[in-house]
Amino acid sequence: MTALPVLDTAIIVVAAGSGTRLGAGAPKALIAIDERSILRHALDGVFAASPMQVIVVAPAGFEGEAESALSAAAGDRADVGRVVTGGPTRQLSVAAGLGALRGEVTTVLVHDAARALTPPAQIEAVARAVTADAGAIPVLAVVDTLKRIDSTSIVEAVDRAELAAAQTPQGFPRLPLEAAYASALSAAVEYTDDAALYAAAGHVVHHIAGSERAFKITTPADLERAQLLLGAVPAASDPVVPVVGIGTDVHAFGGKGDLWLAGLEWPGEPALSGHSDGDAVAHAIVDALLGAAGLGDIGQHFGTSHPEFGGAHADVFLARTLELVNDAGWRIGNVSVQFQGNRPRFSARRAEAEAALSSALGGARVTVSATTTDGLGFSGRGEGISVMAVAVLVPDVSRIR
Ligand code: CTP
Ligand code: MG
Repeated sequence: MTALPVLDTAIIVVAAGSGTRLGAGAPKALIAIDERSILRHALDGVFAASPMQVIVVAPAGFEGEAESALSAAAGDRADVGRVVTGGPTRQLSVAAGLGALRGEVTTVLVHDAARALTPPAQIEAVARAVTADAGAIPVLAVVDTLKRIDSTSIVEAVDRAELAAAQTPQGFPRLPLEAAYASALSAAVEYTDDAALYAAAGHVVHHIAGSERAFKITTPADLERAQLLLGAVPAASDPVVPVVGIGTDVHAFGGKGDLWLAGLEWPGEPALSGHSDGDAVAHAIVDALLGAAGLGDIGQHFGTSHPEFGGAHADVFLARTLELVNDAGWRIGNVSVQFQGNRPRFSARRAEAEAALSSALGGARVTVSATTTDGLGFSGRGEGISVMAVAVLVPDVSRIR
């Protein structure tokens, strides 16, 4: 067995909270920001800092997930990492982490996994600022004007120059921290953070400059902020670039019953053949929308492997397509469609067709035109109808911040 590296610093990454305020239905640290979880991002930051022992405090029952995140972040430095199980409070989780410190460690950093985007330089700066008896924590100046309040009114103004917001990691010399934890646990006192616990034992805690990126992911809005910072979702400041899609469809006459075209029934007109009602105008629109959104094509979403759409008309296809496109973060700019065919005579019902298609697409602007081909080709010979549709989608900025 190769010898373990000698490390005088350890970082305890507490990740055992349940994430009640995030409300994501799983322990917060395991929730994805992009393709990586909150814990994985926190550990990526830790492993980008100078080498130290890394102790991950995992939610009970999720130790395996924490091990996976740790080994993925550690790469070939997995020998410096360990996972332990957390407790019902943050303080007990930190205490569990303290129990896993290696003998040679003299400086201990305690870090919230929830501060997933903390810059590695902040972790290193805290470690450097710890002395033989004083702790060090990163803080941010408070920018808002602060008031002391009671349940209804302002009691007084508070001088914000005297205040700062505390972040993590918080660093301490090991032995006094262990002693401070032992007395807090035996007195069963809960402190708001490690610095408060350490100061309560009579020690000094210094402050250094924190950073905006070290914010704690607490609410869904914080998670969105992290996603924006990582470029995982488009930002409102990104140029809103529209995308365009094209769709074509051809159906032969020869179906049963009356014609269905452009979302309307045409009594007495020969029907088109095809899966569903053969409404080639609707099908071309579906392909244009799916193509613009990069969602594949009509066969993939509505083909013969989806018998539930067998007899469906345009309204069903278009409503489902709208849902797919919206879920992918797009809204419809407009749809323009033209069909080539000798029949039906279209202009008298154009407004009705456009209204039906628009309504199926949530009120989007849909325009339809028809033309003949001077007797040329299959549509000129009256064998069928050929359609081309173009759709423009724009990023749905109401879903982006
Ligand atoms: N934490 C922990 N063990 C606990 C409670 C919290 O290890 N029993 C950790 C969290 O995982 C988090 C950090 O302490 O990384 C800061 O806590 P907080 O942001 O409050 O996270 P949660 O307690 O998970 O969230 P909430 O309070 O909304 O439930
Ligand atoms: Mg909490």
